[in-house]
Amino acid sequence: MRIQFDETNLLAEVIGKGHGISRAEAEGSRGDALKALASFRDQSDRKLYGFPHLPFQTAVIQDVKDYAASVRGSYDTVCVVGIGGSALGAWALDCGMRGPHPVQGAFTPERPRLVILDNVDPSFTQQALASMDPARTLVVVIAKSGGTAETVSTFLIVREWLNDATRIVAVTTEGKGDLYALAQQEKYRTFAIPENVGGRFSVLSPVGLVPAALIGIDIGKLTQGAAQMTHLCWQEDLNENVALRAALYHWLVWTRRNKPIQVAFPYANHLWGTAFWFRQLWAESLGKARRRDGQVVNTGQTPIAALGTTDQHSQVQLYIEGPNDKVFTFWAVEEFAATGKIPDVHTGLGAFDALAGHSLAELIDAERRATAAAMVATERPNCTVTLQRVDEEHLGAFLQMMEFQTAFIGELLDINAFDQEGVELGKKFTFALMGRPGYDEYRKRFAEYEEKRKKA
Ligand code: PA5
Repeated sequence: MRIQFDETNLLAEVIGKGHGISRAEAEGSRGDALKALASFRDQSDRKLYGFPHLPFQTAVIQDVKDYAASVRGSYDTVCVVGIGGSALGAWALDCGMRGPHPVQGAFTPERPRLVILDNVDPSFTQQALASMDPARTLVVVIAKSGGTAETVSTFLIVREWLNDATRIVAVTTEGKGDLYALAQQEKYRTFAIPENVGGRFSVLSPVGLVPAALIGIDIGKLTQGAAQMTHLCWQEDLNENVALRAALYHWLVWTRRNKPIQVAFPYANHLWGTAFWFRQLWAESLGKARRRDGQVVNTGQTPIAALGTTDQHSQVQLYIEGPNDKVFTFWAVEEFAATGKIPDVHTGLGAFDALAGHSLAELIDAERRATAAAMVATERPNCTVTLQRVDEEHLGAFLQMMEFQTAFIGELLDINAFDQEGVELGKKFTFALMGRPGYDEYRKRFAEYEEKRKKA
């Protein structure tokens, strides 16, 4: 497994002092990074936060594998009903290992497809249901709380459409919440989400592993890659600990060179789902009102997902000439599954002949390096994470690296990266509006808000 982090284009020596971090400044902050590592290690050892332990839960991983083996062949579609952290991990894994929609090809019981119902858009839901055959669909309903309005409402529709409890798997908190209660009543197969693992950190728990195993992804290799990365993430040597080194540089450039926006810029369509998973991880974990000591800081760095080379022709004009308020993280892949050889034919026309005989792999690499050079020319800080290839081992390691990096930055900012009060507030107002008992306080607050709007 090889994943590298290259911070060279974040350095003042390369992009200038105004927007870059000097080696000396980074060296001076090494102590802060080591403190963040020690503090997170301590919390992880006390099992306050569970994601570092997930790749080592061999009994759970085996249980998921056994279940997937026992139902294989009985479906051609896996339908996930979930939202946020209960859906994005499955999308990242599906896109990473099997490619982005709509080019995945025909679906069969040997190669089932994944349909994710993560929105309550009625037209989308109706169209998705019309595209599936209930007799050939396995439904995985995922909700840590067991009560999220979008998931619960969509699930009621899907449950009626399916009309077969033996084809439903529930992934939720064991012994808690309404989804768990329904699963018990109707005897669904269930898998547990550990209480100390939040939605956006749950991709390597049954939340991501169940859908992944059901569509044929090797979750053994996925978790092995993540386990290898976990070992690296506990090292004090910043050359080995890529997550900590990346966290340190990102924290410095964000907070000391005022870069409130980060663009995650994969140059690989297979990493597009991961970019959306990362957006949630970064936004929900680091967007916080208060520090741990209670002081209001309203901190956060807005994550943007862009795809190379596609977005070079959409976003890069802004990135290079617009406000210098962003840091760019390229995600590069060394070895693609195909090279995309460009035929060595000569037409006598310059634009065509220049590319004839090369390959798409060569071109996508050149375009990324060219964009980085253009960014350096205009003093735009950028860095690169390089995956040797996108396979189960590297994807598992990369997801784990990003989770550690996020946790380390949470420590450096001295915030709680693992709660989500903002998301919960929106959920409470929704429950109030939909008439759920126990939410009178939020119904009252909503009425006051409407009153204010009327008077404005
Ligand atoms: O990361 C989070 O905690 C959230 O985005 C949740 O994953 C999301 O709100 C869905 O919650 P639940 O799994 O309880 O339905």
